[in-house]
Amino acid sequence: MPIRNVGVVGCGLMGSGIAQVSAQAGFPTKVREISPALLEKGMGAIRRFLQGGVDKGKLAAADMEKTLANLHGTVRLEDLADCDLVIEAAAESLSLKRELFAELDRTCRPEALLASNTSSLSITELATATRRPGRFLGLHFFNPVPLMKLVEVVKTLETTAETLGDASAWCRAIGKTVVTVGDSTGFVVNRLLVPYMLDAIRVYEQGLASRDDIDNAMKLGCGYPMGPLLLGDYVGLDTTYSISQIMFDEFKEPRFAAPPLLRRMVLAGRHGRKSGRGFYDWSTNPPS
Ligand code: 3HC
Repeated sequence: MPIRNVGVVGCGLMGSGIAQVSAQAGFPTKVREISPALLEKGMGAIRRFLQGGVDKGKLAAADMEKTLANLHGTVRLEDLADCDLVIEAAAESLSLKRELFAELDRTCRPEALLASNTSSLSITELATATRRPGRFLGLHFFNPVPLMKLVEVVKTLETTAETLGDASAWCRAIGKTVVTVGDSTGFVVNRLLVPYMLDAIRVYEQGLASRDDIDNAMKLGCGYPMGPLLLGDYVGLDTTYSISQIMFDEFKEPRFAAPPLLRRMVLAGRHGRKSGRGFYDWSTNPPS
């Protein structure tokens, strides 16, 4: 079944990006948040990104208008009932996501595909909250969604070939490159990226080098677009911590264990860009 109408649950950092790229590619897209205030915050972020594209000469003003016309915000989950594909991008909580999927399963047509953008929870476990494990999969996007070209398409033992084909075709239609991966915690990208970021924090914690020298070492020595400590701030240190906990729990390998400094920073509310302070001070632009 080709995908025509798309629903996104959550209009935060990831959900707003997913809704934007879907609408920008011409798909009527509904995005649901839990309150009008949070919905307006996410829609505002989309408008600002699109306006930034127009200002940079990357996007025609008419295309910005078309994108916004394809986007419909709502606070009611039942408004997603007629979607062919619903992507959940809510907070990284197993119980919350399972509740959402049970409700989506009751609300959406039986042939609709349900997907999670989770970065570390088990797709198989989420699918068991529904009666459609064959039409359930992971679609893992990367931050910032409009600029990062990859989607990890995650198949469980139960995901059908048709589901994989339809979801992958939609990802390509919105301009992304697809890699297909099995349902193992962290998939491919976070399995490799998270230990690297945790190691960078350990190097900093041990006083081997300064923050800027660690970031410059990887940026200039390896050609990465940003250093690992800046990337941690960018992704969110609370998110990085929570992913590391889930990965450690799954694999019991020390490389996934959060360094004590990361835990202290999260406890102190230093979550990176989203809280204004992490390894960097984000009240200045660029961060210092
Ligand atoms: N509209 C359209 N295009 C825009 C735009 C906008 N509003 N804003 C920027 N762009 C374009 C720019 O014009 C530029 O295009 P060009 O390459 O053709 O010149 C390009 O996007 C890059 O933008 P900038 O020059 O402003 O910014 P940088 O070059 O500093 O790149 C970055 C920013 C893309 C964020 C880069 O630093 C990067 O790739 N960082 C790494 C990000 C990363 O690793 N993300 C993954 C995190 S892990 C994750 O998400 C998984 C989760 O589970 C944890």
